[in-house]
Order: sequence, then structure tokens, then C-alpha cells
Amino acid sequence: MINLIDDDDIARALRSDVRTGLTAAPKWLPPKWFYDARGSALFEEITRLPEYYPTRTERAVLTEAAPAIARITEAKTLVELGSGSSEKTRLLLDAMLGRGTLGSFVPLDVSASALSAAVDSLGVSYPGLTVTGIVGDFARHLGHLPDGDNRVIAFLGGTIGNLTPADRATFLASVRQALRPGEWLLLGADLVKDPAVLVPAYDDAAGVTAAFNRNVLAVVNRELGADFDPPAFAHVALWNPEQEWIEMRLRAGTAQRVRIPGLDLTVEFAAGEELRTEISAKFRQAGLTAELAAAGFELSHWWTDPREWFGVVLAQAR
Ligand code: AVJ
Repeated sequence: MINLIDDDDIARALRSDVRTGLTAAPKWLPPKWFYDARGSALFEEITRLPEYYPTRTERAVLTEAAPAIARITEAKTLVELGSGSSEKTRLLLDAMLGRGTLGSFVPLDVSASALSAAVDSLGVSYPGLTVTGIVGDFARHLGHLPDGDNRVIAFLGGTIGNLTPADRATFLASVRQALRPGEWLLLGADLVKDPAVLVPAYDDAAGVTAAFNRNVLAVVNRELGADFDPPAFAHVALWNPEQEWIEMRLRAGTAQRVRIPGLDLTVEFAAGEELRTEISAKFRQAGLTAELAAAGFELSHWWTDPREWFGVVLAQAR
């Protein structure tokens, strides 16, 4: 494994994000801080909920598309950003190894523990494959990817939707920067659809997403000694039709004051005040193709499910 971030970097980034977000108006926190051990377990649970269609839909699309992806790219190296448990990756690895082109797999993730578990289990399943885990942040460390040719960078799950349009442009440009002409980006993107389908996916009947959302407060409590009372905040998920994204928020039920000793900061919430914790943008083929073109990619293939709920896009660096 290659380690590009240590615990100090992570602690510093959390302090900076919490100070910036909780002193802003309106208040916000970046979604990356959901994913401590409990948050990651809750997210895994979300992926199995009846309302949460993205994971199973993307898996179905990838199952269909993987042989074509392997044939078109002739990938020698597969890089996966934010790989987490690398579960869907096995579909790609199987297809690329089946074609006989693939020699190496490079999962990159901020979580050293998730990554080392994935690297170990992949090493067992694929003894001939060179697996090099990189502990890093996809927003900062794309300059450190191993050299190679016929590389495919995969960014699956719809996580690109967590980025604002401006951050997406920066991110896609940095992916392009990391590649040579002819190499590939494979992107999973959740698509615009009926809000009657979208909203329940982020506000499930069992309350798992609500627990996931509130977990960010528990992370701030543990890491910065804060005294957030998570049950005092209601889970809110809404569709923003202008921006075409889902927003998750936490709404303070009553006026309250939160102390954050790790930042030497006190934050006041008015009754009903909302803290934005995530945007999850939904895409259209034309818009995504234009964003890719602006970053220096040409759309090669677009796969989707019969209901057109989730898109898997293969784009080639120009
Ligand atoms: C992991 C970012 C793709 O936006 O759907 C799930 C996170 N948030 N339920 C998404 C999430 C609430 C998820 N991503």
C-alpha cells in the first residue's frame, strides 16, 4: 500500500471543514465525514434498502456492460477511486482478466482500514493480479497514480454527485490531467427521474438514512469533543428541481447551542434551522457529456438500465 495521507492530515481537514461549514450561513458540512466505521456500515445497509435503487441498478448495468468495457478499453491497469469494499469492481476485474489484458489493480480510498481489507481479499481472489492500494483523497492525489498504459480510472456509485458543478469541473480536469490521450474514465452517474422515486431513496421508511445523516454529528462529537445532541435534529431529504440534486439536511427541532472544544467554537442553532450535509446530484446524458467534453474527454459509450435510472459512462481522454 502507498500512503499519501496520515491521521494528522485527516484531523486537520476535519477541523477546517467543520469550522468553515458551521460558521457559514446557511450552515453545511461536507458528506465525506459521514464515513467512519458506523457511517460506512450504515451506508452498506442503505445499499440494501428497497427504496435505495442506485447500488443494485448500477450493479445490473455493470454486469451487462463489463465485457464490452473490457473489450473496448483493453485495460492493463484499472484504477478505482473511492473504492471502499471494491465489491462492484469484481465485475470489471473478472471481465478484464478474462480478456487477458489486465495486470494491475489500483484501488484508492481515504480509509486505510477499508482499503487494506479490500487489498487482502482481492489478493486471495486474484492471485495473478498486482494490487496496489493507495490511501489518498480523489480530490487531491490523482497526480500520484502509478504510470502505465491503457489505464482505466473508474469512479462508480454515483459519488460524483456529491460534488458541486464547480468541484466536478475541477475533479474531471484533474482526472484528465492524470491520463494520457487514449486512456479511459469509467463513471457511474445517477440520473434525473421522478422525485417520487428519488426522495424515498434518501428518506427510507426504516430510518437508516436518517441515522446515517445524524451520524456526522456523532463524528464531530467524538473527534472534536462537541456536544451535539443527534436526536435533536430531524432528517430532511428534498429534491432541488433547479439544481437537479437531492439535498440532505439536519433540522434543529428547538433553539440550541453546541460547544466544539476541539475548535474552541460555540455554534448557535435557531429553532428550525437547517444544516446541509450532502448534495447528491442527478445527471442527464447531454449534460454529463458536455461536462466531460469541457474536461477533455470524448464520450465513448453510455450504458443504462431499461428504466434509465442509472448511467455508466465510458469516456476517452482526448
Ligand atoms: C455514496 C454518494 C453515492 O449520494 O446516493 C446514500 C450517499 N447519501 N444515501 C448517494 C448517500 C444518502 C450516496 N453516494
